[in-house]
Amino acid sequence: MSVAVYPGSFDPVTLGHFDIIERSANIMDKVIVGVLNNRAKTPLFSVEERVDMLKYVTRQIPNVEVQSFDGLLVEFVRANHAKVIIRGLRAITDFEYELQLSQTNHVIAPEIDTIFLTTNLKYSYLSSSIVKEIAEYHGDISAFLEPEIAARMIEKLKGKEEQ
Ligand code: PNS
Repeated sequence: MSVAVYPGSFDPVTLGHFDIIERSANIMDKVIVGVLNNRAKTPLFSVEERVDMLKYVTRQIPNVEVQSFDGLLVEFVRANHAKVIIRGLRAITDFEYELQLSQTNHVIAPEIDTIFLTTNLKYSYLSSSIVKEIAEYHGDISAFLEPEIAARMIEKLKGKEEQ
């Protein structure tokens, strides 16, 4: 059985991420979306909220599972008996970082390979941080996120503004 891990911060999941998940699920028997519980960064959404949003958007894809992880990605991949890491490549600017990530992972875990899927052109400009910035300035984020995710984001930012 081919099992892949699609890791990321997903703060929050965008339509670009969803496109990669959907396409990965078409080529692999099982895709595990790994949500990084990053202690160094302060995400807008908690890891539980990010997992919940990913479970919501992938609810109709039966071979997709969502889990959070802490620590090294390759250990998470090994623990799930996967051999493949999936990453999306948007523009050439992603390449250097992604190359570094995949080569480092391959040195520390030679049995694991990274497969890159080029992002659909429609979403090649999209990033969670830009969407967050637009939302913080009350801009329209409906072209970037599923309606339910956009609603949760607006709600979250409203809560922060009231603090
Ligand atoms: O969505 P992102 O923030 O670009 O995802 C980055 C991610 C989660 C893939 C990367 O930060 C990661 O794998 N972190 C886990 C820690 C780790 O394994 N670091 C060494 C990789 S070289």
